[in-house]
Amino acid sequence: MKKMHAELFVSSRRRHSGFSLAQLCILALLLCLTGFITPVAHAAPAPASIRYDAATRVFRIDAAGTTYVLGVNEHQQLQSLYWGPRLGAGDSFPQAKAMPEAASFDLPVTTTPHEFVGWGGGLYVEPDLKITFPDGNRDLALKYVSHKIDGNKLDIVMKDISREVYVTLQYQADAETGILRRSAEIENRTDAPFTIEQAAAATWNLPRGTDYRLRYLTGRWGAEWSVQQQPIHPGKTVLESRRGTTGAQNNPWFAIDREGGNDQEAGGVWFGALGWSGSWQISVEQDQLQQVRVTGGFNSFDFGYRLQKGEHLQTPYFYGGYSSHGIGGASRLLHRFEIDSVLPHAPHPKLRPVLYNSWEATGFNVNESGQMELAEKAASIGVERFVMDDGWFGQRKDDHAGLGDWYVNPQKFPHGLKPLIDKVHSLHMDFGLWVEPEMVNPDSDLYRKHPDWVLNFTGRPRTEARNQLVLNLARPDVRAYVFNFLDKLLNENDIAFLKWDYNRNWSEPGWPAVAPEDQKKVYVDFIRNLYSILAELRAKHPSVEIESCSGGAGRVDLGILGLTDEVWTSDNTDAYDRLLIQNGFTYAYTPGVMMAWVTDSPTWVNQRTLSLEYRFLSSMQGSLGIGANLSKWTPEDFATAKKMVAQYKSIRETVQRGSLYRLITPENNSEQSVTESVSRDGSQAVTFAFLHSSREGYPFPRIYLRGLDADATYRLSTLDGKLAPDTPASASGAYWMHRGVDAQLRGDFRAAAFTLERVGGGTAEK
Ligand code: DGJ
Repeated sequence: MKKMHAELFVSSRRRHSGFSLAQLCILALLLCLTGFITPVAHAAPAPASIRYDAATRVFRIDAAGTTYVLGVNEHQQLQSLYWGPRLGAGDSFPQAKAMPEAASFDLPVTTTPHEFVGWGGGLYVEPDLKITFPDGNRDLALKYVSHKIDGNKLDIVMKDISREVYVTLQYQADAETGILRRSAEIENRTDAPFTIEQAAAATWNLPRGTDYRLRYLTGRWGAEWSVQQQPIHPGKTVLESRRGTTGAQNNPWFAIDREGGNDQEAGGVWFGALGWSGSWQISVEQDQLQQVRVTGGFNSFDFGYRLQKGEHLQTPYFYGGYSSHGIGGASRLLHRFEIDSVLPHAPHPKLRPVLYNSWEATGFNVNESGQMELAEKAASIGVERFVMDDGWFGQRKDDHAGLGDWYVNPQKFPHGLKPLIDKVHSLHMDFGLWVEPEMVNPDSDLYRKHPDWVLNFTGRPRTEARNQLVLNLARPDVRAYVFNFLDKLLNENDIAFLKWDYNRNWSEPGWPAVAPEDQKKVYVDFIRNLYSILAELRAKHPSVEIESCSGGAGRVDLGILGLTDEVWTSDNTDAYDRLLIQNGFTYAYTPGVMMAWVTDSPTWVNQRTLSLEYRFLSSMQGSLGIGANLSKWTPEDFATAKKMVAQYKSIRETVQRGSLYRLITPENNSEQSVTESVSRDGSQAVTFAFLHSSREGYPFPRIYLRGLDADATYRLSTLDGKLAPDTPASASGAYWMHRGVDAQLRGDFRAAAFTLERVGGGTAEK
């Protein structure tokens, strides 16, 4: 499936082929069994199949290794029946049956595993939708009305029992990964406006169980992407952001497996992620009857969306998937899905160029000659994109002034940006520029002219953070201003890349210009306008690439990823800290968008000293960038960097597009960390190994590779560091996976990396 995300803006319908999906599946199976088709790594996936059994009123969705089943029960409610590994083609389900009244305290409406439930009757679990009508009624009971199956899409219409409130549940299945995209569209066909106080995209119900473990991601500025795990007990865990943006404190991703037999590569994992860059909420609850359900969408805190007669509200997308191959398999499915179906230009997003960024070298102190000097040095080591960070515009000397005034600072760049851009081009790099479009410093011409353009409550303080306020992008005039200045910037300058920053979260989220009952729409309209600006800019300037940065990783989610080409992983660029940060990142997001700079040592974060080789190897596990102050480098540093940038280019496709195996995670204060990436075509594997400190003379643990073809032969090359002298120059995939490789890492902060190139044999040649 291509570009699922784009349909947030444009909806398209697929055509059926002449065969039914069931016929196609049977045909494919027969051809496989009779040997006419040999499954190969790149075989097109079987199409997703969506079937409805009118007799039982059961819907069944099969895609890749996953089956998802739901049905209409005797009360016309939509009930989840199954989510997990693919079932046999002939397996069927009886009609859904609501739970009986367990006790007068727990009514069927609350114990039945609904696909999507309105707050009404005696519902005590998390509702998907809660509405207040103008007459004070707040009861909503949604029942099945109709459905439509169109290829890999299913729409199910529900309606309240008496009021003209319609909800269309939308499902879209990805044939390649089995990931389902779910969303709900709420429509007001009553005669008056009503207020939506809570709206989820979907509820995911897991098989009944009490041995579940939840994984989720937490963090803060400079320390994003910590993997947390906890048993799911009766009660509720809420992951959320109330910040107006995605936030680093929780990321809108979850994974659930069963405690016990599961590890990185084994066991079943249910996972999901929201595509929304505003305030969001995912609640994970185990109810009184041990049913585990996950409900996610807009954050209900302070939510209130007034829907006029005839209007619709589309919720964010909530993606869900299942892997039988442990949390590692779940991550690989998500990575594949992001690359093939979410990112701009999916399924062929461009590989990330090696970039240089000026921020850690020059801070706000940018000027024409200084940047030209850095550009020359960057080009000499093979950098492909030169990015000038903060400080080039308005009266920006530090973070006290200038945001909002997007003209080139005439003292720093007396001739505009052209001489610098020309210089960068003459060095065979493209040019990127930092912007922070949604912000304003009170010390700016823009704020002096339009103090009413920021989020604020009339007469209340306007809390500054980093000396800046948030422009209310929900306002049409602010949206127009932001789009126009960016469009002009891109029209007037040959810019290939924007680093789009966002350095604070919301406070006092008022919108005094609209009626009080519409003010809370800011939570939705702000993000919609952000998305529409990005989409419009991309349409007008199709070659421009964009990075989502929010003081680090404060805005990384499947919504922004549909409109940006890469994300900033963390302001913490300490290459050792980065092992843990990057490890957490890859649980949910592909290394193909994970920007990782090589910066100076000792690092500003911890004053830790790390070799240049170690810093490079740490960054080479993602999308490589350089952020060091090159004017301080020695000739030896340049030689090392040149060699390693060239090495990176020879493995980047594998790292950015391949299958990632977290062989040893740096979690739980592990002394070691090892990752392996295997290219999509299986021709290359690259392994990175890191040691924190040797202890008591123990050797580095043996590295057992994964994902290789046992029968193929692979030739080993060391990129950096030392391997044991008895390591063969070439051996079978079985040898590398079962006998393994010994890296000779001893001491403090040591690293090694090696590649395996497939040289023959194996399934492909049989
Ligand atoms: C925060 C970003 O994360 C940094 O990389 C840098 O761009 C600064 N903002 C600039 O103000």
